[in-house]
Amino acid sequence: MTDPSADPGIEEGLPGAPGGSVADRVVIVTGAARGLGRDYARMFAAEGAAVVLADLDGSSVTGAAEAISADVADARVAAVATDVTDPAQTEAMAAAALESFGRIDVLINNAGIWGDLEPAPAVDTSPDYWDLVMAVNLRGPLLCTQAVVGPMREAGWGRIINISSMGAYMPAGVYGVSKLGLNQLTFALATELGPSGITVNAVAPGPIDNEATRTQVPPKGIQKMIDGTAVKRMGTATDLFGMIRFLATEEAGWITGQTLGVNGGFSSRL
Ligand SMILES: NC(=O)c1ccc[n+]([C@@H]2O[C@H](COP(=O)([O-])OP(=O)(O)OC[C@H]3O[C@@H](n4cnc5c(N)ncnc54)[C@H](O)[C@@H]3O)[C@@H](O)[C@H]2O)c1
Repeated sequence: MTDPSADPGIEEGLPGAPGGSVADRVVIVTGAARGLGRDYARMFAAEGAAVVLADLDGSSVTGAAEAISADVADARVAAVATDVTDPAQTEAMAAAALESFGRIDVLINNAGIWGDLEPAPAVDTSPDYWDLVMAVNLRGPLLCTQAVVGPMREAGWGRIINISSMGAYMPAGVYGVSKLGLNQLTFALATELGPSGITVNAVAPGPIDNEATRTQVPPKGIQKMIDGTAVKRMGTATDLFGMIRFLATEEAGWITGQTLGVNGGFSSRL
C-alpha cells in the first residue's frame, strides 16, 4: 500500500499553496461592479485573497472596490475599468493585476449579459443583439483567459472559472446558446491548459435572488423558477461561492473541464 505522506507532491509542496485555502491568491473577477461579481469579489477579499475587480462600468467598479476596502479588514483590492470584449482592455486588466499584486492565480469570468430567459425569442434576435451577447458571454471569457494565461503558465499554476448558467440547458434564446458555448470553451481550454497546471471549469448557477433577477424577470417567472428547483427557493451568491471558492483552491487540482450545476436541483420543467 502506498503511504500518502510519501507522495512527492505532498512532501515537497506543489506550486500552489497546499490545501483548501484561497488566502493570498490573486483573483481577477470580471463583471464585478455589481451583482454576483461584486459579491464574489467581497467574499474572496474576506478570505484573504488579493482581488482585482474589473468591469465595463468604471465608476461603479471603483465604488465597489472602495466599499470592500471599507467593510473588509485588511482587504487588498484594485479596480480596473475593462470591456471584456476588447483585447487591448483585457491585456490592460491583466497588466494592472500584475502591477498591483505581482501574480495572477485565479480568473473568474463572470461578466455577462442576460435577461432573455423568458420568453426565449431566438427567432426574433437581431443580428446586433446576437453579436453583443456572444461578444460579452463568449468572446469575453476567451479574451480574459488569453490575457492571463502567460503569467499562469510561467507559474505552472492557475484556476479559470467560467460563470455559465442553467440557461445553457433550457430554451433561453441567444443567452442559452452563448452559455452552452461557454461550457464547450471550458472543456477545450481545460484540455489545452491542463499540462501547464491550469484548470478550467464552469459553474452553472440556477436562479439567483439578486437585483438583476428582480428587475429582469417578472414575479410570475420568479415563482416558476422557484417551483423548478428541488429545494423550492432561489439561490444566493453565498450558495454559489462555496463551489467557486473550492474550484480556486489547490485541492480542486484534479477537477477540470467540468461544468458544475449549482442550482438547488433545478430542472428545466418550466
Ligand atoms: N443572476 C442570476 O440568476 C444568474 C443565473 C445564472 C447565471 N448568471 C450569470 O452570472 C453572471 C453575473 O450575473 P448578475 O446577475 O450578477 O448580472 P448583472 O447584470 O447584475 O452584472 C453583470 C455585470 O457585468 C458587467 N458587464 C457587462 N458587459 C460587460 C463587458 N463588456 N465588460 C465588462 N463587464 C461587463 C456589467 O456592467 C455588470 O456589472 C452572468 O454571467 C450571468 O449570466 C446569473
